[in-house]
Amino acid sequence: MAVDERGRLTGDALRATVDALSLDRVDGLFAVVATAGTTNAGIVDDLEGVAAMADERSLWFHVDGAYGGAALAASSARSLFAGIERADSLVIDPHKWLFTPFDCAALLYRRPELAKAAHTQEAAYLDVLRDGAGPDEWNPSDYAYHLSRRARGLPLWFSLATHGTDAYCQAVEASLQVTRAGAELIEGLDHVELVMEPMLSVLLFRRLGWEAPDYKRWSDAALASGLTLTVPTSWEGETVLRFCIVNPRTTVDDLAEILTTLA
Ligand SMILES: Cc1ncc(COP(=O)(O)O)c(C=O)c1O
Repeated sequence: MAVDERGRLTGDALRATVDALSLDRVDGLFAVVATAGTTNAGIVDDLEGVAAMADERSLWFHVDGAYGGAALAASSARSLFAGIERADSLVIDPHKWLFTPFDCAALLYRRPELAKAAHTQEAAYLDVLRDGAGPDEWNPSDYAYHLSRRARGLPLWFSLATHGTDAYCQAVEASLQVTRAGAELIEGLDHVELVMEPMLSVLLFRRLGWEAPDYKRWSDAALASGLTLTVPTSWEGETVLRFCIVNPRTTVDDLAEILTTLA
């Protein structure tokens, strides 16, 4: 699907694609998904535009903020997410950029009763759970397809209760600041080049003159020496390197040290 000059899915491109497919709701198109922080490049789609398109066509609007949704906590990135408030559902993985032990995914519904209608399981042996329960009784097993689950939210809850939300805002903001400083660092060096300006905390950059095997050799050696786990990825068919900074203790000096070994 076409993306704009910043790599974002837009409402217009989505509309054009759907029109070209001649799909409508009756044919089975019922939802659209935009990404708020793509895994590879940290791109936040045009959420406002996709929300408008979904609204026009009465489609469910889901936002995948598994990685990037954490940046809602950072005021310096908040404007990128305009339109997210129109989502019917949103996923954010606290085990990614919210420092929660693996695995913990948070799924939020605008109208939980719809999710409940879709996911509630009926079985004689479950009736006892509903005995005496009102229609608003909350049971997590009603909101996803699996019945059995661990209390995945508990480590996040304890951490939030201990540190407070401000600590989270500061930690995410710190990663964003290191990323922006890292981008400036790369721009000031002769042997590396930014592939694009970062939107969130992913830096994609190329080592000038290198081919795929050079990246692999360097990455393997950097891991073996304990310097960094920085693996190659690709962008529009070109092998490049990717920093994804989600640890607030990562410093610009750490990035500078890694970049020196690429010279
Ligand atoms: C945007 C996005 N969506 C979904 C996923 C998958 O998340 P999980 O491995 O927690 O299922 C990832 C993982 O990197 C991601 O970045």
